Amino acid sequence: MAETITITDNRTGESIEIPLVDGTVDAKAWRDLLPGIWFDDPSFSATSGADSAITFLDGGAGLLRYRGYPIEQLAGSTSFLEVAHLLVRGELPNGPQLKAWKSEISEAAPIHENFHKRILEGFRDDAHAMGVLVSSIAAMSTFWPDSKNIEDPDQRRCEIVRLIAKMPTVAASAYRRSEGLPYVLPDPDLDYTSNFLAMMFKTGEAPYVVDPILHDAMDMLFVLHADHEQNCSTTTARVVGSAHADPYVTVSAAASALYGPRHGGANEAVLRMLTEIGEYGNVDAFMDGVKAGDQKLMGFGHRVYKNYDPRARIVKDTAHRVFDVTGTNPLLDIALKLEEVALADPYFIDRKLYPNVDFYSGLIYQSMGFPVEMFTVLFTIGRTPGWLAHWDEMLTQNSRIARPRQRYTGPADRDVPTIDER
Ligand code: CMC
Repeated sequence: MAETITITDNRTGESIEIPLVDGTVDAKAWRDLLPGIWFDDPSFSATSGADSAITFLDGGAGLLRYRGYPIEQLAGSTSFLEVAHLLVRGELPNGPQLKAWKSEISEAAPIHENFHKRILEGFRDDAHAMGVLVSSIAAMSTFWPDSKNIEDPDQRRCEIVRLIAKMPTVAASAYRRSEGLPYVLPDPDLDYTSNFLAMMFKTGEAPYVVDPILHDAMDMLFVLHADHEQNCSTTTARVVGSAHADPYVTVSAAASALYGPRHGGANEAVLRMLTEIGEYGNVDAFMDGVKAGDQKLMGFGHRVYKNYDPRARIVKDTAHRVFDVTGTNPLLDIALKLEEVALADPYFIDRKLYPNVDFYSGLIYQSMGFPVEMFTVLFTIGRTPGWLAHWDEMLTQNSRIARPRQRYTGPADRDVPTIDER
């Protein structure tokens, strides 16, 4: 029997039968039966906004797959650039494809000299790295006006390479500017992640030697962050892109959404929270405050995961490997205790609140030498292929401009008073 639902308008007795397709019903059928009556769903928690073949997520079961591949397998056996290729080109690259992809990315990694001089130098010394990054990505739109040609698939392909390639260069430059350090240019002989770490941390003339465990951890963290279906920033990318904005301002808008502490900014907020708690002995009092509604337990909770976030489990395991190299982060004990208390407490159990990807990632970043202001920048580098894959997919779907309806709650029709009457 076909799976359908029937909607009846009790005012008129009219009914309509709508097929259920992949767990969704077509809102057009509703609109035809009930013109002018809208779903009231401000946070889109019951609305499917896209048909997408990129990422599968089952929040109840704690599953995450990129183009069908489980995140655990990708994190364990593929590099970030392979995963980026999977997301933006549809498949994991074979040997020759990977070689070509690596050289495309590495050739596009440098940024224009004017970018350093005129754009990055223009920010205040204490500017937050995410503010610098968001503005810099938008500014890149002025360097490549051809990027506005979004209907040309070759142009889109070219901009996708540029954005993935230049993101680490801009990110590392934003950091070095804030530290007053000279910029380090991309090195075509290094792989994507080694190159990023060298641009961040290289000092003097000697070649930068990256510890293989730290390199693999960083690369794997990029993989874990690479896509997460219709989250707030990806939805932003699809909405802005639906207006046919160029990819730079589209990705800048997505990065702006990511910057918020409820989204990718949570990794920075977790570190600040752990630092504020300060001591193991303060955990219980802090948790009482969370339950009383004084503050949120940052790095916990998720709109779609109602089971342990599979990314958080991998990050937690990785933290121990990183700490073997860097020494333990003193805040780890506080984090472990917070998790232990939360997982046994009815407040968190009843609300299905578990650690998310941001809970342990900040501890790793800090131990690797990144300042907290860079944490969401690292998330941005990882998420860039995901945003671009969705932007490209949306443009190939002949999508209409995003334009939701609203429930108007303002005043009824009234006459404009004169200034003396106001
Ligand atoms: N600490 C304490 N209580 C929480 C938390 C938390 N972190 N998250 C949710 N709750 C409570 C919330 O107060 C509500 O309680 P009640 O039913 O009594 O009103 C209940 O749990 C349901 O929460 P919600 O606000 O309906 O959940 P949401 O789906 O709207 O919000 C969230 C999801 C991620 C914004 C939220 O859980 C949160 O603010 N978490 C902390 C920030 C964070 O870690 N964000 C990173 C998300 S993962 C990375 C990414 O991809 O962005």
